[in-house]
Amino acid sequence: MIKGFIFDLDGVIVDTAKYHYLAWKKLANELGFQFNEEQNEAFKGVSRKRCLEILLDLGGVKATQEQFDHWMIEKNEDYLRYIEKMDVSEILPDVPKILDFLKANHIPMALGSASKNAIPILRKVGLLSYFKVVVDGNNVTKAKPDPEVFLLAAKDIGVDPTDCVVFEDALAGIQAANSAGMTSIGIGDTTILTDAQYNFNNFTEISTDFIKQLTTI
Ligand code: G6P
Ligand code: MG
Repeated sequence: MIKGFIFDLDGVIVDTAKYHYLAWKKLANELGFQFNEEQNEAFKGVSRKRCLEILLDLGGVKATQEQFDHWMIEKNEDYLRYIEKMDVSEILPDVPKILDFLKANHIPMALGSASKNAIPILRKVGLLSYFKVVVDGNNVTKAKPDPEVFLLAAKDIGVDPTDCVVFEDALAGIQAANSAGMTSIGIGDTTILTDAQYNFNNFTEISTDFIKQLTTI
């Protein structure tokens, strides 16, 4: 029986996946090559450093350590310029419906994200107080598909991993949830999130009855 809920952030709670994409695309263009949405799929759930390594491989660009560090900072500064303008209107549809329902039923919620910008983003959109625990890119050493981020989140909310559910928009995140022994719910393209135990295009398709069935509230 599910007793704890873990949410990924980018692409699940807020549509920041598009801002990550725009910032990486800008850097790729500056370095003289194209970068498209299909390529961006592999960047979801992946740490900033690893994303830059993949991007440079795609463009066949060799970087010195100094250039690498500079581009990491540049991408993040571009990304933060988008984040700066965010407000509640960027919460994905019906996410508050599920968060409010869980909160009303006293079910602990955790955030499990690879992002180092998770707390400022949650603050910007006014959702930070819903989460008992935030595990993010500042707390983990192993990236998804390693289950570390979700196992840490489960431990911190005091729920056994097998009693946790994870909402994810990235294949690496679904794989991380599955290796943690958790119930995985894919949010987004069902043809990509093939390993998920449940699939929904977005939260408008998730009813409170579905949540009740999972938890037996
Ligand atoms: C999330 C996103 C990734 C992003 C990562 C790091 O997992 O899905 O696309 O690269 O966070 O984000 P950050 O905000 O720390 O650059
Ligand atoms: Mg995500």
